[in-house]
Amino acid sequence: MLGRAVVQVLDPVFPGMVSATRAEADVTDRFRLESEVERLRPDVVINCASYTDVDGCETDPDRARRVNVEGAENAASAASAAGCPIVHISTDFVFDGRKGAPYVEEDTPAPLSEYGRSKRAGEERVAAVATDFLIVRTSWSYGAGRANFVDAIRSRAANGGPLKVVDDQFGSPTCVVDLARALHGLILREARGVVHFANAGVCSRYAMARLILRTCGFHDVPLVPMPTSEAGRIAVRPSYSALDTSRYSRLTGETPRPWQEALIEYLRGGRGAAVGA
Ligand SMILES: NC(=O)c1ccc[n+]([C@@H]2O[C@H](COP(=O)([O-])OP(=O)(O)OC[C@H]3O[C@@H](n4cnc5c(N)ncnc54)[C@H](OP(=O)(O)O)[C@@H]3O)[C@@H](O)[C@H]2O)c1
Repeated sequence: MLGRAVVQVLDPVFPGMVSATRAEADVTDRFRLESEVERLRPDVVINCASYTDVDGCETDPDRARRVNVEGAENAASAASAAGCPIVHISTDFVFDGRKGAPYVEEDTPAPLSEYGRSKRAGEERVAAVATDFLIVRTSWSYGAGRANFVDAIRSRAANGGPLKVVDDQFGSPTCVVDLARALHGLILREARGVVHFANAGVCSRYAMARLILRTCGFHDVPLVPMPTSEAGRIAVRPSYSALDTSRYSRLTGETPRPWQEALIEYLRGGRGAAVGA
């Protein structure tokens, strides 16, 4: 999902950019990855690869470790061996949600799930092996290219519902095209360390679903709030995982647009909606 958006946004501004799917560059294959990056000699490596199935990570922690921990390390060491920085993507799920206010980069991670733990361990490996790195944490992403919360709500509503959506998890929905543009700005400014990026504002999953239904004209589809305890998910999610993006704004001079604006544009077929969907 993010990989496609990165290609869409960066291809016109970085001519000669090379993108790769899992089949072309498996991050768990350290030797092949290193030789490929060495051959290409890039100015920067952006690692969007991850095992992102949060419940799947719970049942297959070995795969989570191979892709999210060792894969992150392999990408970082391949970039370092080729003498270039690595931009690595991480997640709001490294936090436990107990803060109850937007997380800044200095807050201590305390992941609740195998996915969160593997992503945190991946961050640590990147920081340990890379000579030059930028870790960008984001949250609640949606965009073209794979199943996501927005498209799931829209298609279930198109089938008439009713929809039950949790109203006790809060975060910042983020359009992957906005994130890809943010990566561009951060790369141009040679940002380093950890940076949070998300669309502005905080909402519950329920409020997000309500805006999706309203924007798509599903006024008669019943939408029912429910507690997380009734959702029957395997992995524990943070109840609050909004990200403070002040550091991003200080570094780039840009302010992320509100989550509602980005989501409405996506639903109306604008930015992020048609990237090779
Ligand atoms: N989606 C969210 O809500 C969210 C929120 C916060 C952070 N993030 C982070 O954002 C980043 C991008 O994720 P996304 O949202 O774009 O999810 P995605 O669509 O699932 O993208 C992950 C990509 O990684 C690829 N991949 C998996 N194993 C790989 C391997 N061994 N080698 C190379 N590629 C591999 C997948 O390929 P296959 O499809 O072939 O498996 C897929 O194309 C990830 O770091 C994720 O942790 C996502």
